[in-house]
Amino acid sequence: MTEPAVHRTHPTGPGVTRIDTTRPHPARVYDWFLGGKDNYPVDEALGKQIMSIDAGAPRAARANRRFMQRATRRLAREAGIRQFLDIGTGIPTEPNLHQIAQSFAPDARVVYVDNDPIVLAHAEALLRGTPEGVTEYLQADAREPAAILEQARRILDFDRPVALSLIALLHFVADEDGAHELVDTLVEALAPGSCLVVSAMTADFEPENVQRGIAAYAAGGVTLVARSQAEMGRFFKGLEVLDPGVVSVADWHPEPDAGGDAPDGPGPVSLYGGVGRKP
Ligand SMILES: C[S@@+](CC[C@H](N)C(=O)[O-])C[C@H]1O[C@@H](n2cnc3c(N)ncnc32)[C@H](O)[C@@H]1O
Repeated sequence: MTEPAVHRTHPTGPGVTRIDTTRPHPARVYDWFLGGKDNYPVDEALGKQIMSIDAGAPRAARANRRFMQRATRRLAREAGIRQFLDIGTGIPTEPNLHQIAQSFAPDARVVYVDNDPIVLAHAEALLRGTPEGVTEYLQADAREPAAILEQARRILDFDRPVALSLIALLHFVADEDGAHELVDTLVEALAPGSCLVVSAMTADFEPENVQRGIAAYAAGGVTLVARSQAEMGRFFKGLEVLDPGVVSVADWHPEPDAGGDAPDGPGPVSLYGGVGRKP
């Protein structure tokens, strides 16, 4: 019997038993870069290998996390968005997206989506939102956007603006595996005034290191793709890209005075980020 594409699951659900500790997983390697504890020796080994190529990898992960925080904050505070669909959520890391959104808008409704059972296993932390708001976790694959939309509609009103965030997700989905089609399907479902938030890896700043990193992930069985600024721009087709455009995540509305929002070290951050608004 084939499994349903989406599990609207509780952390004690069946996915918990499917954690594969024999090969590295993106969510767990990222957790290791962020200093988290929800990773395994195989993830740490790949993380260390990446750091031997680029010692700045944890710094890039932190800069990406802060991009998520700033973008979410601006969309909740300045754009007045009250609904959030975050695909490729990752292992809970405080502050999580719902904590940022609900600190400005306690009634914000947040749907998280990830396909890794380790995220499901820790999803409980994502479900502790405000009493006025809603948080929900779906275990699903971004490459099946129609199934995600079907489930998300139970929580979110797609006739009203939604902030769709695909943060550090799309570099795990190659163009030939449907990266653009999944974005197009999701964006098409959004109401005017909705926003798309994207960050993804690029080799524009440090081509050699990034290509070596991609090879290390590939050896661990993980597909990773780097995109140029122009290739990243294609994800925002039909949207108004907000200032300052598609830039390194560290340069997207940096808030150096806001308690650690500045990049915490020298050198480029090899992730582009941007926000587009649906007209
Ligand atoms: C690097 S983490 C980013 C976490 C978080 N968005 C952030 O930026 O801090 C990437 C996440 O995307 C998830 N992911 C990768 N491919 C996916 C797919 N096809 N469908 C759903 N999630 C996916 C991974 O499991 C992982 O949790």
